[in-house]
Amino acid sequence: MVFCSLSMPERPSHDYQAVQATRRAEILARLEPALGGHPLLTLEIGSGHGHFLNAYATAHPERHCLGIDIMSDRVRRGLRKRDRAGLTNLSFLHADAWDLLAVLPARVRLEAVFVLFPDPWPKRRHWKNRILQPAFLTTLAEKSTPAAPLYFRTDYEPYFVEAREVVASHEAWELRPNLPWPFEYTTVFQARAPVYHSLIAVRR
Ligand SMILES: C[S@@+](CC[C@H](N)C(=O)[O-])C[C@H]1O[C@@H](n2cnc3c(N)ncnc32)[C@H](O)[C@@H]1O
Repeated sequence: MVFCSLSMPERPSHDYQAVQATRRAEILARLEPALGGHPLLTLEIGSGHGHFLNAYATAHPERHCLGIDIMSDRVRRGLRKRDRAGLTNLSFLHADAWDLLAVLPARVRLEAVFVLFPDPWPKRRHWKNRILQPAFLTTLAEKSTPAAPLYFRTDYEPYFVEAREVVASHEAWELRPNLPWPFEYTTVFQARAPVYHSLIAVRR
């Protein structure tokens, strides 16, 4: 599967819509077995090599966890780690975040969402590719349970400042600066970051 563009063109062409529909149908077909009939999901968007979610799922056997990433080799690495650990409450899927939310069945809700060290897109003309945007937060809220937490961490301070503003002004989310970070496990990108910033919000 090829992900050519993470952001939707302003006026999607008929061809774009057809390609998107095919891609989403493929994701849905692979998502159903990954869900395993569970109604609640802990989701990591941009799960990379799967270090964090493998550790999290090991420590939280009562949770059903899904990691998604647009890089298929990273998804495969996460799955290999999962299989070596024999975890049955964890899956990884090659999928873009927007696509995943679009096909998530209505019977499934997100009970927690992690976005750890997302691509920072430092150039202004690329900001539209950042995952934490008002429209994305709206869709994420629609798919989440009431009071579901969103955990966001980045080492790129300008993105952190922007994300905090976007979340603070979004009607569906409430910043909770006093909540503790729920689980620490150093990811590949966290290990490279001298300093990072964390944000916790809950779905209203
Ligand atoms: C900088 S890496 C961080 C990986 C991991 N969270 C960590 O901390 O080590 C960002 C990851 O997000 C993935 N990614 C970027 N945009 C995405 C999207 N729209 N949907 C899903 N994954 C995405 C990238 O492929 C990459 O693996």
